[in-house]
Amino acid sequence: MIIGLENARVLVVGGSSGIGRATAEAFARSGASVTVASRGGETLTEAAAAIQGRPAPLDTGDNEAIERFFAEEAPFDHVVVSAAKTKGGPVGKLPIADAQASMESKFWGAYRIARASRIVDGGSLTFVSGFLSHRPSPTSVLQGAINAAIEALGRGLALERAPVRVNTVSPGLIDTPLYAGMSDPDRAAMFDRAAARLPVGRIGNPEDVAAAILLLATNPFATGTTLTVDGGASIA
Ligand SMILES: NC(=O)c1ccc[n+]([C@@H]2O[C@H](COP(=O)([O-])OP(=O)(O)OC[C@H]3O[C@@H](n4cnc5c(N)ncnc54)[C@H](OP(=O)(O)O)[C@@H]3O)[C@@H](O)[C@H]2O)c1
Repeated sequence: MIIGLENARVLVVGGSSGIGRATAEAFARSGASVTVASRGGETLTEAAAAIQGRPAPLDTGDNEAIERFFAEEAPFDHVVVSAAKTKGGPVGKLPIADAQASMESKFWGAYRIARASRIVDGGSLTFVSGFLSHRPSPTSVLQGAINAAIEALGRGLALERAPVRVNTVSPGLIDTPLYAGMSDPDRAAMFDRAAARLPVGRIGNPEDVAAAILLLATNPFATGTTLTVDGGASIA
């Protein structure tokens, strides 16, 4: 039996943009009451308003604020963490401070949310990692290591936090504002190259990943797993 989402209390950390925003929208369409968290600003206000959700300014780097937030909230039915800001590049070229800041943002941010979160029995916590964990790229080795750490965190927490279910969704290349810093032609060329390699013939959209997150959140038998949604990038 699939768990219903009507009136479920859902928190999406990183819900103001990209995969998180599509996930917040998908939960809202299913009748959930969604709290959208990110560091704040107009994008957060706008993303929450678009789904009649509640904005929650929250920085995943601020452990005190995170603990206060969960202490003041009733337990959630489902929590999703897709918040991250990371820098890429070859290990030999990426400054060590940037590498550490990336791990700090994506891994430790997820860890802090997981640690403080209060979730009902049978509810779920879902992380977002990335297919580079098992399909390394010579220019994104660090990303792969961070993603692998997140997936291991999810598997372990599925034991520690039971009967809360803990899972990870591992996306391939997804068209999100993550790539807004690239020029339009560079981004289009990268997406076209990737699409041509993929068995599905296109890169992903945030809704592809959101659907996988909802699948894991609503399947009462799913825990301790990593679901790859990468258009076949892992096997191509
Ligand atoms: N897009 C891809 O191709 C792809 C592929 C594999 C894996 N992923 C992973 O998927 C996740 C989501 O990526 P995306 O593409 O959706 O990126 P995105 O569009 O840039 O969204 C990132 C979200 O994280 C929030 N965020 C960043 N730092 C935060 C902090 N310290 N505290 C709270 N919120 C914070 C951002 O909001 P604010 O900046 O307003 O705080 C935003 O809502 C990331 O972990 C990414 O590594 C993405």
